[in-house]
Amino acid sequence: MAKMIYAGKAKQLWTTDDEQLLRVVYTNQATALNGKRKDQISGKGELNNQISTLIFEYLSAHGIPTHFVKKLSATEEIVKRVKIIPLEVVTRNLGAGHFASRFGVKEGLKFSQPVEELYYKSDELADPFMNESQAAALGIANAEEIKQIWEISRQVNQLLSSLFAEVGLDLVDFKLEFGKTATGEIILADEFSPDNCRLWDQKTKQHMDKDVFRRDLGDLAPIYQEVLRRLTTKLGA
Ligand code: C5P
Repeated sequence: MAKMIYAGKAKQLWTTDDEQLLRVVYTNQATALNGKRKDQISGKGELNNQISTLIFEYLSAHGIPTHFVKKLSATEEIVKRVKIIPLEVVTRNLGAGHFASRFGVKEGLKFSQPVEELYYKSDELADPFMNESQAAALGIANAEEIKQIWEISRQVNQLLSSLFAEVGLDLVDFKLEFGKTATGEIILADEFSPDNCRLWDQKTKQHMDKDVFRRDLGDLAPIYQEVLRRLTTKLGA
């Protein structure tokens, strides 16, 4: 019998007959303000599953180790079972969101090299900022593991910044999560969708990501649909 082992804000994780594999179910829930604002957005689960599938397949094809196994249905995928490292690994190419508000700079500030930040993944503590020595002190990830995490993140940034640029989008920033396999390998986990990155249209500067929901800028589903359309045109269905 399949058991639900985790219910997150936008996804559920279920066991499968194979103990090495899990089934991910993408839901239509959108949240902001660390879950304080919630809404159901018809079609969102399906869109994120499709977008994340295209991105993870693209990353795997370019040598990034990931948990992704296959898309199962419109809203479900199969992934390798890993132990999630409770870090939110954020890379920023342009200053936006909390970077802009925290440091009092205008959104769109260009960096000479990407900014890298770690946050401790904890709903109760509202995901506090965490540096590498704090992560090591708390036994969350050691220096070698953090080095591997940043190596993979930098490759992901290069691959995806180029990919999105080819479909007219700036990859402003994004959050990754990593997991450890039974053999200790660190691989990319979670999802990659407009829920956890910022994408700005290069021509119109329009927000093409969850900021549309966070900032009440209009309907989210047609925006995600457009991101999917552009990626599909580039990568195939
Ligand atoms: O809010 P902030 O500017 O720090 O977000 C940086 C990036 O990380 C954004 O792309 C945002 O969507 C993502 N993020 C996330 N989950 C969080 C916090 C941030 O996906 N809990």
